[in-house]
Amino acid sequence: MERVRIGIVGSQFAASFHITSLAKLRGVKADIVAVASPNIDHAAACAGTFGIPEYCNDYRRLLERKDIDVVDLCIPTDLHAQFCVEAAQAGKHVICEKPLTGYFGKDRPEDLVGLTVDREMMLKETLADCDRVKKAVEAGSVKFMYAENWIYAPPVTKLKALIKASGGTIMDIRAEQSHSGSQATYSRRWKTSGGGALMRLGAHPVGAVLHLKHFEGVLKQGRPILAKSVTAEVAQKTKMEAFGREPKHYLVSGWEDVEDWGAMVITFEDGSTATILASDGVLGGVRNTMTVYLSNAVVNVNMNPSNCLEVYAPEPHIFKDEYLVEKLETKAGWNFPSPDDDWVKGYSPEMEDFVDAVLTHREPVSGIALARDVVEIIYTAYLSAQQGRRVEMMR
Ligand SMILES: NC(=O)c1ccc[n+]([C@@H]2O[C@H](COP(=O)([O-])OP(=O)(O)OC[C@H]3O[C@@H](n4cnc5c(N)ncnc54)[C@H](O)[C@@H]3O)[C@@H](O)[C@H]2O)c1
Repeated sequence: MERVRIGIVGSQFAASFHITSLAKLRGVKADIVAVASPNIDHAAACAGTFGIPEYCNDYRRLLERKDIDVVDLCIPTDLHAQFCVEAAQAGKHVICEKPLTGYFGKDRPEDLVGLTVDREMMLKETLADCDRVKKAVEAGSVKFMYAENWIYAPPVTKLKALIKASGGTIMDIRAEQSHSGSQATYSRRWKTSGGGALMRLGAHPVGAVLHLKHFEGVLKQGRPILAKSVTAEVAQKTKMEAFGREPKHYLVSGWEDVEDWGAMVITFEDGSTATILASDGVLGGVRNTMTVYLSNAVVNVNMNPSNCLEVYAPEPHIFKDEYLVEKLETKAGWNFPSPDDDWVKGYSPEMEDFVDAVLTHREPVSGIALARDVVEIIYTAYLSAQQGRRVEMMR
């Protein structure tokens, strides 16, 4: 195989940054062959915007094609596991957006799963779903590539080099993804999102801290340092009475049975800790930040906001449609635009790794083990928050 032929499933937000990230790679050995979405107008618009030769309204058409090697799943989280299994059975390698899967309820569609269902059962079912994907991928001898962009972000790559050079011990990590709320309709309900802020936003910092402790462990003792326990809290801040009374809302609201704020402390087997914050209640553009306190150094990772570019405009229209940063409420005043989100957030480097992994028959840096570990931590956090106690990892 000299070039990797990719079919994109889904045609909206995640699909668009996967496509642009691939296009930015120099000498990339990949072609996007087709895009599928049940909304044929969206699929057509996506194909037109990005110059993709074909589009269709049924992703199974992509699975039937011999000229597609990889399907890239940019679809709501409740569809991930089943689509992964079907792709693997069709002999296609899979790129899967985060998080891998979750618990989505089995009863009537109108049930508010997030308010009623026992978290211990959710955790067990979610892990069973992860194992179903793992088995299908192994049986199909295909690659599972987990699109956790944080671990590919250039500041995180540099952080790993600094951890290695310092020889220090990672004692404490504080990591956060927050913004003013997702616009995607699937995110409102547990049935389609599998959880709230901790799941959608927290998946990134959780993925990063697990990857870093894994990295440190392999470096120093030849095996990963694993999570030992999780303590968490969740809340629905936009249900606060005071917020409800305000005449104008700058934050997304209307969350049904999912939390819009979550925090957790992960304790690792070596005694170190990671504190994760995830919120849909933060103005000022997306926050993608991490501070790593080593025994002999400190590293601040500021993917967003970052002050490598500072701009000022007296009115919001001055910069017209030029992109500044994700989820920014206004372009007026001082702002900190991202010079290139696809690189800074790690989307292009992750695509580079995935394409190379397929071409050279090696495992990607981000694979099924990390994908499973992330949802295990998040659902253990939900169990902790429901029961109001620290929960030991079940191993
Ligand atoms: N890595 C990141 O930074 C990041 C950011 C946003 C979203 N995501 C992830 O990407 C995934 C998609 O989120 P999004 O924001 O793009 O959502 P979205 O609502 O913008 O897009 C979802 C797409 O899936 C398509 N779809 C729905 N049902 C389908 C089906 N049966 N077959 C084929 N396509 C179907 C929709 O038509 C739409 O094109 C989620 O898992 C989310 O967690 C990741």
